This record gives sequence, C-alpha cells and structure tokens, in this order.
Amino acid sequence: MHPNRLLSATILAVVAGTALAFPSYESLAGLTGRQLESAIQGLNPKLPPPPPGPLSFSGTKLVDDPAHPWRPLRNGDLRGPCPGLNTLASHGYLPRDGVASPAQFITAVQEGFNMDNPTARVATYLTHLVDGNLVTDLLSIGAKTRRTGPDPPPPAIVGGMNNHGTFEGDASLSRGDAFDGDNHNFNQTLWDQLVDYSNQYGGGFYNLTVAGELRWQRTQQSIATNPEFDFRGLRHFTVVGQASFPAGLFTDGRKTGADKHQLDLVSGLSFFKHMRFPAGFFRASEPTGGVGSDVIFGAHPVLPGRNVGGVNNYVVDTSLGGFGDFCKFYTEFVNITIKGLYPNPTGVLRRNLNLNLGFVYDALAPRLGANCPQVFPYGTN
Ligand code: HEM
Repeated sequence: MHPNRLLSATILAVVAGTALAFPSYESLAGLTGRQLESAIQGLNPKLPPPPPGPLSFSGTKLVDDPAHPWRPLRNGDLRGPCPGLNTLASHGYLPRDGVASPAQFITAVQEGFNMDNPTARVATYLTHLVDGNLVTDLLSIGAKTRRTGPDPPPPAIVGGMNNHGTFEGDASLSRGDAFDGDNHNFNQTLWDQLVDYSNQYGGGFYNLTVAGELRWQRTQQSIATNPEFDFRGLRHFTVVGQASFPAGLFTDGRKTGADKHQLDLVSGLSFFKHMRFPAGFFRASEPTGGVGSDVIFGAHPVLPGRNVGGVNNYVVDTSLGGFGDFCKFYTEFVNITIKGLYPNPTGVLRRNLNLNLGFVYDALAPRLGANCPQVFPYGTN
C-alpha cells in the first residue's frame, strides 16, 4: 500500500472512533469514495488562489530581523525533513505551527531566502499534490516534533512532508532513510559525514564540489544498506536541487567573488540542526533556485533506479523519468503518481486537483520544452 494511503486510512480510523475531525492539513490520498465523503464533511473547502508572483524587491536584505525572531518549538508545532522550511517556520515567515497554504509557502521561501519564483512554485505544488490537503488548501511541513531517543528508537513519525516516498525520499544529506526508522530528524552521524566531506573537498566549506561528492556517497550508502532504496522519478529530480540549496540559499547574500556559494559549517549547522538563521543573516543576492544542479549531477551521474530484492542490487529504471528527463517525469508524475493517489476524485477535490495540476504544469513549463503537452487525467472542466 502507498504510504499516503496507509496514513489517510489510519487517520480516518482514529477519527471515526472519536469525536475528532480529519486533520485539515493531512493528505486525503488513498481514501475510498465513502471514506472521502466522511473525511471531507468536517473540512472547510477552499478555492486555491493563483500562485503569488516574484518579489518586487529581489535583492539581498537582512532577514534575521526584529519582525522575525527565532522562537523555540512549542508543544505540537510541526517540523519535518526540510531545513529551509523548518527555519522559516521557527522565524515566523511561515506560521510557527508549520501549517500553511501553498501561496504562503511561495511567499515565505521568496521573502526569507530569495528562492526564485518558478522553483518555489514547482517545489510547492508538487509537494502539495502528494502531501497536502487539497480540499482545505493546507499543507504541513512535517509532523509533531518528537526527538529520537537512544534506546529504543521510536517508530518513524508520519504526516505532511514526513510522508515517505512522496516528496520525501531516500539518500538525504542530513536525514536517514525511512527504512532505518527516522527520515526527518537531524542525524548527527550524517552531519559529521557532511563536515568530513566539506573538509576534504571544500576547504572546510560546503560548496558545489562537496555537494557532487557527498550526493554520490549518500547514494552509494543507501544502495548498500537500504533494501527498499528508491531513486526513481521525482526523487531522482529533487535530490540534486536539494544538494544545491545549502550552497545557493544558506550562504549569506553579501558574499561575493570566490566566497559566493561557500557555506561555512557553523552557519550550516544553524539551519540543518537548529532551524535558525545565523545571527544577522542576509538572504541570497538574487532570486536563486537549483544553482549548480548540473555540476552536482555531472560529478557522478546516476540514472534513476531502485534496489530490487535486497541491498546492493541497484537496477536502473527510467520509467518515471528523472533529472534530465523532465517531460517524462512530469507526465508520469501526473498519470501514475497522482492518479494512483486519487483514482476517482469528484466535486471540490477534483476541482482543486485540476487547479493544482495546472499550477504545476505552468511552473514546470519552461523546463519541459515545446513538445511536452499538459496531461489531464481528470478531464479539463
Ligand atoms: C516550498 C518550497 C519547499 C518545499 C516544499 C521543500 C520540501 C522539502 C522536503 C519535503 C525535503 C525532504 C527531502 C528528503 O530529504 O527526503 C526537503 C529537503 C531539503 N530542502 Fe526543502 N523545500 C522547499 C524549499 C526549500 C528552501 C527554500 C530551502 C533552502 C533555503 C530548502 C532546503 C532543503 C535542503 C537543503 C534539503 C535537503 C535536506 C537533506 O538532504 O538532508 N528547501 N525540502
């Protein structure tokens, strides 16, 4: 069963036995017609607004400012596997509880980090489609914060962007694989490896050369230890951009010349572990997305694939596309992944699915090329 289906069904079972309503920010994917009806009954449907446009002032500026103080987590705040979004929530660029609409996500990543508008839209709508609640137009950055104890580790916490096999995936730089039980908390051992690689290949800084080598190392580690390692489609595409973000977006926007895109590790730890801007942090000096992704991918090109039947058996599988084959990735994402999560949507769910699918296509269009038409698994009206 797809993890999202299991999650929605589990939530619904809990909800059904109590007076609780289905959480307004949890995905409805995988519920059957009857279950959907019951879950949607208690929700407040929302017409998604069009995506926000680019910033009017898109230069660097102080973002660790008095209007956005860092605050420690409160009981029940949601956090997840993305160090960028965790930081934005802990500074109040996103609602501090970790739940927001796609429009709020786009505004926050632009304002807080100067992520460029197309990248912000692609990341947001892809994630919202697989992890968000499409009826209420809300998405969470993870799940209730709970620390992993030494003995024994608690089960992986699911929900929102913690959901494995959606936008979250294997071979992350600072988080373990879901197979190992915790795919979203900061992992000190993996951080130590990132530091080693930065010392070895970056003179003590994280940069694109480090990213290329570390990306390769994390992939080899998952091939060797995770029998369920899956590196197809969306995951093959996101790992590369996400390895570039620390260089492009976590470095202070006032750095220029040879210092540009060189992330010092004290600042890195501040984002990755403490969900906090380094004191006095300035955002990127121009709108920035996956800068240097081609360099990272080109360092050790690995085709999409997965382990089949156990560890150390990586079998290439390009059926869902991946980095460098955006049209196939887009088409299969819609026809296979989304259609699999929502086989027969009706009413407001179908309307909002269609709107969000349109937002994804518009955002991806510049990378898809002229011969990659939009696909409409749920019709056009
Ligand atoms: C709305 C936009 C965004 C969404 C929906 C999003 C979502 C995610 C998710 C779900 C992951 C986990 C993937 C995984 O490792 O399994 C992730 C990873 C990551 N994100 Fe974001 N993100 C967004 C914007 C940003 C921004 C603005 C930054 C930096 C300023 C950022 C930096 C990162 C980094 C560095 C990772 C990799 C973490 C690792 O491999 O350990 N993200 N993001």
